[in-house]
Amino acid sequence: MADRNETRCDLMMFGALGDLAQRKLFPALYQLERASLLHRKSRVLAIDRKTYDTAGARNLLKDKLREHVKAGEFDDIVAERFLGRVDYHCLDFNEPKGFAHLNDWHSSDQSNLIVYMATAPAMYGEIARNLHRNGCCDHNTRAVVEKPIGHDLESSKVINDELGEVFNENQLFRIDHYLGKETVQNLIALRFANNLFASQWDQNHISHVEISVAESVGIEGRWGYFDKAGQVRDMVQNHLLQLLCLIAMDPPSDLSADSIRNEKVKVLKALRRITPDLMATHVVRGQYTAGTSTGKPVPGYLEEEGAIKGSKTETFVALKVEIDNWRWSGVPFYIRTGKRLPEKLSQIIIHFKPAPHYIFDPDQKHLANNKLIIRLQPDEGMSLQILTKDQGLDKGMRLRQGPLELTFSETFETDRIPDAYERLLWEVMKGNQYLFVRRDEVENAWQWVDQIMRNWDDSGSPPKRYAAGTWGPVASIAMTTRDGRSWYEDA
Ligand code: BG6
Repeated sequence: MADRNETRCDLMMFGALGDLAQRKLFPALYQLERASLLHRKSRVLAIDRKTYDTAGARNLLKDKLREHVKAGEFDDIVAERFLGRVDYHCLDFNEPKGFAHLNDWHSSDQSNLIVYMATAPAMYGEIARNLHRNGCCDHNTRAVVEKPIGHDLESSKVINDELGEVFNENQLFRIDHYLGKETVQNLIALRFANNLFASQWDQNHISHVEISVAESVGIEGRWGYFDKAGQVRDMVQNHLLQLLCLIAMDPPSDLSADSIRNEKVKVLKALRRITPDLMATHVVRGQYTAGTSTGKPVPGYLEEEGAIKGSKTETFVALKVEIDNWRWSGVPFYIRTGKRLPEKLSQIIIHFKPAPHYIFDPDQKHLANNKLIIRLQPDEGMSLQILTKDQGLDKGMRLRQGPLELTFSETFETDRIPDAYERLLWEVMKGNQYLFVRRDEVENAWQWVDQIMRNWDDSGSPPKRYAAGTWGPVASIAMTTRDGRSWYEDA
């Protein structure tokens, strides 16, 4: 991360004792402190319902930092310096009067105020109104909110309207943490800084695209939340569609937030609706049953703690997505994501079309497609699969496929890749919105996803089963083989 933050920012963290704040947000702030990126006077007000005094809250936060910051990166002196910035305020978010005290803490003339709502989205409107009524925010305040923004188009409009009563769009920072991942930002550099790819990035040269976001974990004690959402709402509406937009969008005229977001919205608007007649060929919905994960037996989704028998919520989804525009006409994007898959892996594979005329051994024709494999996590990097001649006098002109490999950690000798939240908090402090999601992006994504959810509800059909530790239902493989293709790991 480049320049130091010269602007003083004070940060109010609502939901400071919650899981997200403890696991991600405070560790990210600690890392900014460690990198000397926080303004020397910046302060943090941790706000939550539980009764603590500041000393007690600092002790708790220190224990949590020790737990969630990697061992080699935890430094007692840095932690003390960071916690010296933190005060604690006990508050019932529904209680307007309690907000009046927040004004004493923040002196607006000397710093920018960031309000981070690490709470349930149902609280966003209430918190915003209470801040406003008590004069705790003004047109310079930045408000940060997490997904999910609603659970369909209608509910997202309600949340966005409530936030909009208090904050202008240029004050709102809607987080999709995938946009904070270094490798995701690299998609912009890859596409628009390398003319080699820029000139090949369309239906003339690309046959299809795969996006896989796989997790080996199951529901991890979040059954109640997850069962109401499911994999489409939890992962596709936000993370996967954002990845798809970054791969599919037209070149923005500059790197400003709105130039990038305008291009993403055009892609979302061009997504072909998945109407009921397309469901059988374009959508596979799965739910995991008992199996193994990293060598250990694990229960099925319906046997997890807190599970309600008979739930039809999907833990896996594979979609064939088509984009109705000039650039992508006829190029399917196969996207899939699931829990309890064989490994944690996010990757994008661009399959290029073969050369127009093939002159090598006929039995090797299937090799003649270049592939660009972009590994988002883990082992961040990319690999361009190219064809060369096999070496040796006896090999004639036999072909061999091999990678041009770029592994970020080795090539750039990076000692650590910052967590997405470090980048995102840093960009909020700088007031840069390009890694945050604009209202129309959220709403267009919901509109597209809602249709799929409605089709499922109308059909009443249950999800297909897959054993934990496999790549989802066989129907997902059939979805690609029907088009004469295969998912990368099956190739
Ligand atoms: C979150 C989802 O947004 O992303 C989780 O709610 C999911 O269900 C997580 O596990 C995955 O994020 P990452 O960064 O671990 O790939």
